[in-house]
Amino acid sequence: MIRDATPDDELAIASVHLEARSAGYGHFLDAAYVASLTLEACVGLWRTLLARSDRRTVVAEVDAEVLGFAHFGYPADGPKPSEQAGILRFIYVLPEHLGTDVGASLLASAEEGLAAQGFYTAFLGVYEENRRARASTSGTAGHMTASDGRSFGASP
Ligand SMILES: CC(C)(COP(=O)(O)OP(=O)(O)OC[C@H]1O[C@@H](n2cnc3c(N)ncnc32)[C@H](O)[C@@H]1OP(=O)(O)O)[C@@H](O)C(=O)NCCC(=O)NCCS
Repeated sequence: MIRDATPDDELAIASVHLEARSAGYGHFLDAAYVASLTLEACVGLWRTLLARSDRRTVVAEVDAEVLGFAHFGYPADGPKPSEQAGILRFIYVLPEHLGTDVGASLLASAEEGLAAQGFYTAFLGVYEENRRARASTSGTAGHMTASDGRSFGASP
């Protein structure tokens, strides 16, 4: 089931974020860098993100377990006219649920949500080396902008 996240989901989302990040980025990013985001910091990040009125977060949940999430909406520099692209800021799925319909369902939900916010296109920053995420998202959620990673690390 895909549903909107609530503030009560911050720990579950942060846990998925850390686990999926480690599994997804561990083979091309410095291990120390990947490990540098602590659970405490990640929970704090999600407390902030879940409070944003210009973004939405949806979670994929089965048997009360959050298996993945997507976070999308207006770009970082504030509300834009509807013809501008929105941002799919995060889409993460637990490693053991990759290759199932969880990722595709989250992506479809994010696309629907972005369209409901008035966006016709969206962009998602994906590391060049992140072949799986690039393959799973390109061509679906509007125009995806690839990045070599240097632009990452800024606050969302
Ligand atoms: C992005 C993500 C949610 C997609 O979910 P998923 O379950 O992997 O997606 P799918 O299995 O539906 O699709 C993966 C695609 O990549 C392909 N793929 C898998 N491994 C690959 C690899 N090493 N190289 C290239 N393509 C690969 C699959 O064949 C599939 O392509 P297809 O749809 O044409 O068949 C998930 O991979 C994830 O959580 N990644 C870690 C976090 C991340 O990188 N998020 C994006 C940046 S925010």
